[in-house]
Amino acid sequence: LTGVSLLPALNARGATAAAATPAAAAPLFAVAMPLVPVLAPVSTAGGVDVYEMTMRTVTKEILPGLRTELRTYNGQFPGPTIKARRNRPVVVRQRNELDVHTSVHLHGAALPPSEDGAPMDVIAPGAERRYTYPNRQPHASLWYHDHAHHVESENVYRGLHGSYLLTDEEEEALPLPKDEYDVLIAIRDAHFDTADGTLLYQMGDRARTTFLVNGAPYPYFEVASRSYRLRFANHSNQRFLELRLADDGDMVQIASDGGLLPRPHTTKAIHLSSGERADVVIDFSRYPVGTRLVLENTGPGAVEDVSQVMRFDVVRTAEDDSSVPRVLRSLPRLPAPTAERTVVLRMDEDGRAHPRAYIDEKLYDPARVDIRIRPGASEIWTVTNANTKAPHNFHMHLVQFRVLQRNGAAPGPEESGLKDTVRLLPGETVTLQAAFDTYRGTYVYHCHMLDHSAMGMMATMKIG
Ligand code: C2O
Ligand code: CU
Repeated sequence: LTGVSLLPALNARGATAAAATPAAAAPLFAVAMPLVPVLAPVSTAGGVDVYEMTMRTVTKEILPGLRTELRTYNGQFPGPTIKARRNRPVVVRQRNELDVHTSVHLHGAALPPSEDGAPMDVIAPGAERRYTYPNRQPHASLWYHDHAHHVESENVYRGLHGSYLLTDEEEEALPLPKDEYDVLIAIRDAHFDTADGTLLYQMGDRARTTFLVNGAPYPYFEVASRSYRLRFANHSNQRFLELRLADDGDMVQIASDGGLLPRPHTTKAIHLSSGERADVVIDFSRYPVGTRLVLENTGPGAVEDVSQVMRFDVVRTAEDDSSVPRVLRSLPRLPAPTAERTVVLRMDEDGRAHPRAYIDEKLYDPARVDIRIRPGASEIWTVTNANTKAPHNFHMHLVQFRVLQRNGAAPGPEESGLKDTVRLLPGETVTLQAAFDTYRGTYVYHCHMLDHSAMGMMATMKIG
C-alpha cells in the first residue's frame, strides 16, 4: 500500500472550480451519464430470482481514446444493478474468472454468516459459489462489493462494486418519483495514468483525481424539468463526498443507507463517506429548460480537492404527478438497551511507510472473536475516532442501526433513519443502537475506508 494517500487532508471547504479544472484527466461534461443496467434473472421459478454473474477482467474506454483494465462483475463497470423485493429471495451465482481471490459482500443486508461475503470466505480463482439473499429486511439502497481479506481494497478500486436496490410495499405505496425518474448515481474517485489509461492503485503523489459517475468521467445527465429521485451512492475506497448544487439550490433528502427517513429533510449538502448512500429528490422544474447545473463536491480531498462531479442539463419539460409526503415511514421505538460498549478507531498518524490501523488497539485477526453478543440483544455502541488528522467511518455487517448521538448531541435529520455506515471525522464520537435479532454467527465491523480496514481496522463480533 506504499504510496497510497492514507490520510486525506481535511482541507478548507469550497475549492474553486478554477483550482479543480486542471486536475481533470478527462474533459468535463463531455459524455452522457450511463444508466447502470438492471440485471435480468436467469430464472424466477418458485418465487426465487436467480442471477448469474462472472467476475472477469475487461478493458474499457473510460478516458477518451485510452483503454483501462478493470475487474468487473459481468464485464460491467460499475456492476449491474440487482432489483429485489422484500421477502422474495435472490440467489446470485458468482463465478470468479479473475486471477485473485474474491468474496462478494452485500453491504447493509441482514444475512446468515455463510451468505455475508466475509473476508475469509473467499472464492478462489476459477471457482464459483452461490449466495442466497432472503431479503427479509425492509427496503434499502444496498450495494455489493468485494471483501476478500487483504485484496478487497484493490478489488473494489479496480471495479468490483455494484448496487442492489431492495424495495417493499411500504416504499412502493408512496408517490415518489419512479421508473425513469428514479436514478442511481454511483460516484467514486479514481486515479489514472493519463498517458495510457491505467488505473493506478498505488497512486503516485501526483496522481490526478478523476470522478466517475456510473463509470463515466464527469458526465452530464439530461433531465426533464420535473422531480427526480436520485440515489447517490459513494463507492469510493476512501474519499468523503460533500455534494452540493452549484447554485446552492435545495435537495430534499428522503433516504439514507437503510431506506427512507422518517421525514424528508431539505438541505444544501449531502455528506457521504465511502460506502454511504443517500436518496434525494431534486425538483428541476424550478429551472428553465436550457439550464445546466453542476453537482459539486466540496468535501475533503485525498490528493487535491476536486469540485465538479457531474452536470444536470435540463433539456425538456415533462408531466409530474410525483410528490414527497411529509411522513415517509415510521420507525419502531427503540427498546431499552441490553448492553453498552465502546469502540475506538485509531491508526498510525506519524507518517510511517506502512501505517497500521486498529480497533480498540488491536489489528484485525480473523481467528479472533473480539466481542460476543447475546442473540436478541439491543446494544448501544459508542464509537470514537481517536485520530487527530485521519477521518474514519464505521460500518457493521448484519445490522441497520440507529444513530442516537453525534458528539454528544442529537444527530441531524440526515441520520434519523436506518444506517449501516457513519462518518467519523477526527475526534468525533457517534453513539448508535443496533438490534441483533436476526441471525447468529460471526460478522465483521470495520472502517469503510477500505485501505484502513485492510491495514487492520476491522474486528469480529459473534452473536450467540
Ligand atoms: Cu461495505 Cu464490510 O463492507
Ligand atoms: Cu479509517
